[in-house]
Amino acid sequence: MSAPERYLITAALPYTNGPVHIGHLAGVYIPADIFARYQKAKGRDAIYICGSDEHGVPITIRARKEGVSPQEIVDKYHALIKKSFEDFGIRFDNYSRTSLPLHHRTAADFFRKLYDKGEFIEKESEQLYDPEAGQFLADRFVKGTCPKCGYTEAYGDQCEKCGTSLSPTELINPVSMISGARPVLRKTKHWYLPLDKHAGWLRKWILEEHKHDWKPNVLGQVKSWLDDGLRPRAVTRDLDWGVPVPVEGAKGKVLYVWFDAPIGYISSTKEWAGRTGKDWRPYWQDENTKLIHFIGKDNIVFHTIIFPAMLKAHGGYILPHNVPANEFLNLEGDKISTSRNWAVWLHEYLEDFPGKQDVLRYVLTANAPETKDNDFTWKDFQARNNNELVGNLGNFVNRVGVLTHKYYDGIIPEPGKLSGQDLEVLERMREFPGRIGDLIEKFRFRDALAEYMNLARMGNKYLADNEPWKKIKTEPGRVKSIMFTANQLVAALGVLGEVFLPFSAQKIRRMWNLPAADWDKVAQTGVLLPAGHQIGKTELLFDKIDDAQIQAQIDKLHRSKAEKSQPAASPLKPEITYDDFQKLDLRIATVTAAEKVPKTDKLLKLTLDTGLGTKTVVSGIAAHYQPDEIIGKQVVWLGNLKPRKLRGILSEGMILMTQDAGGRLVFVGPEEQTDNGATVS
Ligand code: MF3
Ligand code: ZN
Repeated sequence: MSAPERYLITAALPYTNGPVHIGHLAGVYIPADIFARYQKAKGRDAIYICGSDEHGVPITIRARKEGVSPQEIVDKYHALIKKSFEDFGIRFDNYSRTSLPLHHRTAADFFRKLYDKGEFIEKESEQLYDPEAGQFLADRFVKGTCPKCGYTEAYGDQCEKCGTSLSPTELINPVSMISGARPVLRKTKHWYLPLDKHAGWLRKWILEEHKHDWKPNVLGQVKSWLDDGLRPRAVTRDLDWGVPVPVEGAKGKVLYVWFDAPIGYISSTKEWAGRTGKDWRPYWQDENTKLIHFIGKDNIVFHTIIFPAMLKAHGGYILPHNVPANEFLNLEGDKISTSRNWAVWLHEYLEDFPGKQDVLRYVLTANAPETKDNDFTWKDFQARNNNELVGNLGNFVNRVGVLTHKYYDGIIPEPGKLSGQDLEVLERMREFPGRIGDLIEKFRFRDALAEYMNLARMGNKYLADNEPWKKIKTEPGRVKSIMFTANQLVAALGVLGEVFLPFSAQKIRRMWNLPAADWDKVAQTGVLLPAGHQIGKTELLFDKIDDAQIQAQIDKLHRSKAEKSQPAASPLKPEITYDDFQKLDLRIATVTAAEKVPKTDKLLKLTLDTGLGTKTVVSGIAAHYQPDEIIGKQVVWLGNLKPRKLRGILSEGMILMTQDAGGRLVFVGPEEQTDNGATVS
């Protein structure tokens, strides 16, 4: 290797439509963080780049549901996610967001360049359109039955049951997620990236040139995509949330979220460069840069096929050196799911286990889904904390600290002549950095962490074999050599631990007053703490987690899942008298006409035959009912409520509704046909 290596390390930009959970951390952000910390500890030029993915349909859907703007949703989750990463020591060089003008500009310029070079196909086609909402239904705005497996809840971009990627028009019985309406077909123009034109070089580049250094799970997916045959893929959408398509005749169109998001890696690098006074270009344009994308398995096609095709079409950018995708982490034997609330959220973990970031980092690394899906269980979390962190690493560091203070007032003793075993232990210690580093370079983080723990294990065995506590009276000179040696091992743990357990490693270095030492120094000298060095006050690194704490987590998990599927009944309001009740004049009425209130999503204007004349009521049910579905329905009408104006319409009274578990509004009405105007009491 001649030219100095440069690393550009990226982690998938998380969607800002919810908080991050342990699956995200285990699969993407921790492995990338270990890798980046390692490269920096080796003194290499490496930056770790990420940011929030703030476009895409799920965000707009969430905003509609909560009755706020998409910007409010992304602001909220961007802040929450960014904080979680900071709290867990995920040390990005830059954490950006795709709603920034810098990103919009970068993504628009990228599109424009491909457009000008003629890299797109422009095509009109029939797309699903919601006549109620007056809008095209891209991606997750439409649900229906999967044509491959028959799953009835498939989305317009993907069936989550069988994993097939779909386009909305392939769905059987499609339904709009906005209004519930049955979509119609309407013509619209879009730009397509002709992936089929790129298949040749992609196959050669990945399946031949990288067949030995990319992970088998990644190569497997790439091969199956290529063998299936690549097709042109639309990179624009008819939506109002996203990066506007920067060409004439594209009003109301934005870039497809998977077109703009990976460009977010570039804009985040630019933001970093601007902030630090560096040049971003070598990181993206110099062949000596190793671009490494850390992602989950659901992102493989985008990072191995689509984004590389975009980079190639643009020209002048490097391609990824590796895409070490992980499989998924399950939780207590079940798939992690935001919608079913089956997850451990990072911000909640920290409330229950303050200061225990490294315990979670440790367990998630030791259990990382590197080659297959893996399972996180709270019992395993407890066992690993108690047996490995407390019992092995914490125990060794603590014993050395306590004995050094007890025998020498915390001053590293001048060793006598080192014995064969002392020298052997120091010699073996010097092999750890290289061995751990090799595993990290191969993206084998579990094994790398296990090696690190072997260093602590070696220390414990060394103490147990040499029993300084027995020899302190009889062979004080020998004990000096033992304690000198044992302190070097603690120092090595403090240096090498920085990549896996940054909080604990820093604590070791602080307690031992360890001068900043780099990775290679452990291998070179073996003596990190000279005789005469004063160490500081020491305290326990880890403590035991008891059964009650673990049971509380298991209970919480099941409780929050149950709450999600069955919202708790709200408590009763304060007591009223019968006279209070008598003040309400409730009547049976029939809906005779219904229409949407213009320029609103939620409101229907209902005309009622009340038996006391025709009345108008404005009701917030448009998201749940089509106007013609409810004509002829008998309802309960509160007739003597003071009329009020809503959107310029005088609403006279209100109709009674209830809500089912899914949040759908349901009418309350008479069991059998009754006279309009009949009282309800
Ligand atoms: N937001 C996507 C997800 O969470 C990942 C985007 S990665 C990027 O699955 F490359 F597009 F940025
Ligand atoms: Zn399916």
